[in-house]
Amino acid sequence: MSERIFIGVAWPYANRSLHLGHIAGAYLPADIFARYHRMKGNAVLMVSGSDQHGTPITVSADEEGTTAQEIVDRHHPEFIESWRRLGISFDLFTTTGTENHRRTTHEIFLRLLEKGYLYKDKMLLPYSNVSKRFLPDRYVEGTCPHCGYESARGDQCDSCGKPLDPQDLLGIRSSIHGDKLEFRETEHFFLKLSAFESRLAEWVQGQEHWRPNVRNFTAQYLKDGLRDRAITRDMEWGVPVPVPGYDEKRVYVWFEAVIGYLSASREWAQRTGDDSAWKEFWYGDVKPYYFIGKDNIAFHTIIWPAMLMGFDPEIKLPYDVPANEFLNLDGLKFSKSRNWAVWVPDYLDQFDPDPLRYALSINMPEGADTDFTWREFIRRNNDELVATYGNLVNRVLSFTYRSCEGRVPEHDAEANLDSGSRELIKRTEETLDQAGRALAACRFKDAIKSAMSLAHEANRYLEAQAPWRSIKTDPRAAANTLWVGACVISGLKTALYPFMPFSSQAVHRYLGFPGEIEQTDWKLERPQAGQPLRKPAPLFAKIDPETVMPEMSGAGA
Ligand code: MF3
Ligand code: ZN
Repeated sequence: MSERIFIGVAWPYANRSLHLGHIAGAYLPADIFARYHRMKGNAVLMVSGSDQHGTPITVSADEEGTTAQEIVDRHHPEFIESWRRLGISFDLFTTTGTENHRRTTHEIFLRLLEKGYLYKDKMLLPYSNVSKRFLPDRYVEGTCPHCGYESARGDQCDSCGKPLDPQDLLGIRSSIHGDKLEFRETEHFFLKLSAFESRLAEWVQGQEHWRPNVRNFTAQYLKDGLRDRAITRDMEWGVPVPVPGYDEKRVYVWFEAVIGYLSASREWAQRTGDDSAWKEFWYGDVKPYYFIGKDNIAFHTIIWPAMLMGFDPEIKLPYDVPANEFLNLDGLKFSKSRNWAVWVPDYLDQFDPDPLRYALSINMPEGADTDFTWREFIRRNNDELVATYGNLVNRVLSFTYRSCEGRVPEHDAEANLDSGSRELIKRTEETLDQAGRALAACRFKDAIKSAMSLAHEANRYLEAQAPWRSIKTDPRAAANTLWVGACVISGLKTALYPFMPFSSQAVHRYLGFPGEIEQTDWKLERPQAGQPLRKPAPLFAKIDPETVMPEMSGAGA
């Protein structure tokens, strides 16, 4: 029976290029998951968009002496281009700047207000006598009360990951001029998170399939007790507050960014021509997944679920939030300010997407932080893609193409093959099952590793059978071996498709199969004797460390 899968992916702030940490953290796992489910024949909706509001954007605009809109207009198209080049297959990647998003945000805001989940209150916020204004959370820093980190921001602590309010910080100062801040009174809307405490606790209790890091973080967060949170801010850039007298304020970026998942689904539906198609992915028999980095867990396991519960008791809460840990660069956190990063557009200007997708998948920070280094990237490309998988595909296909008149050879019936050959075909089918189970459970590393170990095994089989020798003495035996080799390759193109869609599509073509690989099933497609092959070319190119290293500006080399 086919399933319905909603995939929401964290909305990147549109004030900087994407780096590899973002890709490994959220976009790649989401895409792998989407491609797997599409191939299984399940209905998938994968959405995200540029997070274009909030102080990260205004900070960048101020730094560059330009407008927030200009910053967004530069980065949003770059994101879309990166998705295309990397093969991140969104059904829709929109922005939080649309009329539709404003409408959806207002709808949720007003519904929560009407139900008593939002209320107005006066509060004290950090005011800078130097800047002559209230400073947004991102412009303030101080010591985190939970972990003692000294440069925690007013919205969250980057060290322990807990969301914060500026009042929580000890020794609060401006991060623009470093001046000490005073707290002044201002009025804002609050989300009554406390009203959802027991419902959330009960719900979280039942999520036994969540990753331990996500579950523990969320349970601890609930245990600390939920406080109501201000969801409007004193600023000009953002979604207006749909209540008279609030012209000077805007909806808090986090409150509206998560609403983007719903507004993007509606926009997608409108674009398909069926305005209500989004409902299939928000109500009834659907599993919603949210792919995010570990710094965004609370917003997706506590705050967004609370908002959804308050908005509509029927709407689906997250089924899973498979948050990844961080990918570091040569042992250090990616950092824009220190220019310690590998930027996606730069990578794509030099290399193909699949080697990166491979390297990030097999080293994905699923349960712990992992490290990216160029040395390791090149080693994986050369030893694992070129020498193992690529070599297997290339040897089988080019030898078959040359020696069997460009066709899949005539061979003995499968049941009559020698036991080693039958065993390998069985192993291929098992690998697909095993990788499929791992993918469905968001264990991506396990899935790609089982596929690669099949490639190793097939290389050993080929070495032992040596069809390039037997073709002279026993052509039928050679034909059998080549057919078995083609079967394994066909299984691998499927098992590896979610990870490396471009090379899998190429293998699909070389094997002589028609159309798009995504239209095939998650099962071994045996090449048929006589099926015409297409002239193969190597799947991957060796990278010479000497030619690459100097261009990496030292980062991670
Ligand atoms: N823009 C935020 C960030 O980069 C993530 C927002 S995820 C969302 O950290 F769901 F809230 F949109
Ligand atoms: Zn902290």
